[in-house]
Amino acid sequence: MKFFVDTAEIDDIKELNDLGMVDGVTTNPSLILKSGRDILEVTKEICGIVSGPVSAEVVALEADEMIAEGRKLAEIADNIAVKLPLTWDGLKACKVLSGEGKMVNVTLCFSANQALLAAKAGATFISPFIGRLDDINLDGMDLIEDIRTIYDNYGFETNILAASIRTVGHVQDCARIGADVMTAPPEVIRKLASHPLTDKGLEQFMKDWAKTGQKIL
Ligand code: G3P
Repeated sequence: MKFFVDTAEIDDIKELNDLGMVDGVTTNPSLILKSGRDILEVTKEICGIVSGPVSAEVVALEADEMIAEGRKLAEIADNIAVKLPLTWDGLKACKVLSGEGKMVNVTLCFSANQALLAAKAGATFISPFIGRLDDINLDGMDLIEDIRTIYDNYGFETNILAASIRTVGHVQDCARIGADVMTAPPEVIRKLASHPLTDKGLEQFMKDWAKTGQKIL
């Protein structure tokens, strides 16, 4: 499973990228707001750090304007994936932009039928939002499973990009089900390394090592 990092914070992207943990980046208008940066500038900087797909989201609601915004965002770098909302107009824009050879990430997906439409419109990525479904007492992971089944039934090449990942359990479940990509905030990716038994074991090793009185360096 590929790891995308869901942030527009340059320091986090650099740190995780240097560790080989970043196969791509996703941003959205809320993350651009949080960064306090200009969308074109920060997206260009991110594309200079990460060679994989970098999603940049349009903000228009009508297809023609979405297409124009998508073309402008795609000019930033070759690895831009134009992010479009899963609306009827978003699907129209997806069809046009993917037909031009641009990578398209269709976002705000909350049902398997929406994912089916995005695949038929030529999306490179579909972004089902797990955490936001969990927020309303639905099981976000059921959606990932349903989309996996449907895409595999018909050989759709659209990549399932599990988004709105909030917990390490979400990451493990996505990997088990077979999501192609997951995108998570930097803190969730860092938490994947933690286990209480690792901490406990290390503490014991340090105590015993101190008793040996030895040094390695
Ligand atoms: O990739 C979409 C993501 O940014 C949404 O996450 O936690 O705001 O639902 P969240």
